[in-house]
Amino acid sequence: TIMSSDSLVFVSAVDGVGVITLNRPAARNALSAQLIDDLLVSLRKCDGDPAVSAIVVTGGDKFFCAGADIQEMKQLTFVKAYTNNFLANLDNGIKAIAKPVIAAVNGYAFGGGCELAMMCDIIYAGQTARFGQPEVKLGTIPGAGGTQRLIRAIGKAKAMELILTGDVLSAVDAEKAGLVAKIFPDGEVLKQAIDLGARIGRFSQPVIAIAKECVNHAEQVTLEEGLHFERRLYHATFGLEDCKEGMTAFAEKRQAQWGNC
Ligand code: HXC
Repeated sequence: TIMSSDSLVFVSAVDGVGVITLNRPAARNALSAQLIDDLLVSLRKCDGDPAVSAIVVTGGDKFFCAGADIQEMKQLTFVKAYTNNFLANLDNGIKAIAKPVIAAVNGYAFGGGCELAMMCDIIYAGQTARFGQPEVKLGTIPGAGGTQRLIRAIGKAKAMELILTGDVLSAVDAEKAGLVAKIFPDGEVLKQAIDLGARIGRFSQPVIAIAKECVNHAEQVTLEEGLHFERRLYHATFGLEDCKEGMTAFAEKRQAQWGNC
């Protein structure tokens, strides 16, 4: 355990995987300013910890996260939200994490909770998990990537339908639509997410970081630029000792021993 107990998140490490558990059950893990700060501090700690190779973000059994904190949001004015760039810290903070971040979702991930899951690199979900962007019911719109990332994940028609109605997407449909990588029986999601992190963690860490950066870059640029960026970093991997080791190990029919260099 790395974090103090007054934090709104709980952090542990299993098999070299940092597990960050949102822990504000009384408000259904609503993303208050303090919860966001605690989450970002924990993510950065895990990112900077050489003993950690991947990070899992999870919530409770019945809820992942009910979104932005409505008590806090109802006080907000346009001027306050605009001048403080409300919620930009969450998106920018998660974007800056170099290690793979896996969301393990049980129960509902609504509003900012769905957006938080989409900021992660991979989503695993329990078979009764639910995803939704209910902001329209509050007289607002998704503000942390919902209108941008959902369309990339599931396409325009489905994203538009969810965002304009506040309807909920079941885990089964989320998996079919491509929002979620895999679904599992509810009780197995966290273990499967940790296993996934551990599996990824057994590869060369610089290679994993480069691959993650390339995949995320695809959302930012044109295909031509993205292909160029990918090719350059692919070329750069030939400067890694791990690349020589991986190819030599293949030729010698043995397991590669990664030195992470
Ligand atoms: C603050 C919240 C909350 C939220 C729930 N609570 N969601 N508090 N912000 N987003 C509080 C309730 O007020 C209640 O407090 C306690 O948590 C339990 O809530 P219940 O409704 O009794 O729990 P449950 O039956 O589990 O139903 C949960 C729910 C419902 C279906 C998620 O609470 C709900 O619809 N919440 C709002 C979801 C939402 O609209 N999210 C989008 C937010 S906008 P008390 O004190 O009464 O016990 C958003 C903008 C995007 O996210 C910005 C990006 C970050």
